[in-house]
Amino acid sequence: MDRRDFIRGLAATGTICAVPTRGGAVAPVSDPALAAFIRGMPKSEYHVHLEGTLEAEMKFALARRNGMNLPFADVAAMKASYVYNDLPSFLAIYYDGMKVLQKEQDFHDLAYAYLAKAAAQNVIYAEMFFDPQEHLKRGVAMADVIGGITRARREAERQLGIRSQLILCFVRDLTAESAMAALDAALPFKADLVGVGLDSDEAGHPPEKFREHFAKARANGLKVTAHCDVDQADTLKNIRTALTDLQVDRIDHGGNIVQSPELVAIARARGITFTVCPTFSGTLRRTEKVPVDVVRAMMDAGLNVTISSDDPAYMGSEYIDDVLIRAAERSSLTRAELVTIARNGFAAAWLPAADKAAMLARLEAYVKQA
Ligand code: ADE
Ligand code: ZN
Repeated sequence: MDRRDFIRGLAATGTICAVPTRGGAVAPVSDPALAAFIRGMPKSEYHVHLEGTLEAEMKFALARRNGMNLPFADVAAMKASYVYNDLPSFLAIYYDGMKVLQKEQDFHDLAYAYLAKAAAQNVIYAEMFFDPQEHLKRGVAMADVIGGITRARREAERQLGIRSQLILCFVRDLTAESAMAALDAALPFKADLVGVGLDSDEAGHPPEKFREHFAKARANGLKVTAHCDVDQADTLKNIRTALTDLQVDRIDHGGNIVQSPELVAIARARGITFTVCPTFSGTLRRTEKVPVDVVRAMMDAGLNVTISSDDPAYMGSEYIDDVLIRAAERSSLTRAELVTIARNGFAAAWLPAADKAAMLARLEAYVKQA
């Protein structure tokens, strides 16, 4: 059996979460008209980790520029190492990869490359995560991290017409003190941030560990979101805490909520939006006898679903169009449901109401003429 078939087989059984594909090509779609509709649609994205957009080619370029050696012969060998079977094994690869990010220019180049790809796919607005604790640990200054990304955001808006904002993620499996130090280091740049989030390995690191951080972020005018990755231990308890105790503004992933009608009702009543990433976590497996399709189940439960690419560089280089096309196929999404997902996105933007309305109007104009 060839290695690719072997990896595909693991993916099919749920043994691994994502498969590196040839240059990011998605399997031919059975409905090319729907694919064309998706590609042309004005879109937004709310769950993309900038460090997760660090493509192997750029890693080599940055390593060369920063005088670092990488333990891979070439891009193909590096990409072949992107094999993981759960959240911790994914995170190990992801954190190792970001070590090449050293200078302000590196963060600029990373963010600009993502924004250029997104703009080319008709993303007109994105809210992007970054993990500053990992960079501070390596001695990079917060000013360089936020400064480089912000410079890229401004250039991309001017040159490519894509608007974006930045969400600082606390790396939940590092200490609470390190997260607070990162927040304090970031607050002088709070005008360049729109919110804080919570990512990394959830096991043993529930959302309440960050109660004070969230309160301080809110007191400084920032919004709050939290990852509740699928099929994690205590996931329903953590979703409940995030929703009802910490009163987060949004939930990232959160697919297990469909297992609790009570939590679904709370999320619906609060109008909470979920940033679902089906490439990484499109199926509930560990907690279900029969696998449950996350996007389909959440849509059917009447939740506000948006779809995002999460860490595309590590997930077959599939950016938003490919993610949506694949989601349409696997979750049998109709054109009307895809429009609902796009509307949910603009409605969830952390932007003034008038700006959201203008973006929604662009979507409606597209839908009318498509
Ligand atoms: N860091 C990057 N991607 C992540 C994900 N999907 N879940 C948790 N932490 C992450
Ligand atoms: Zn994520």
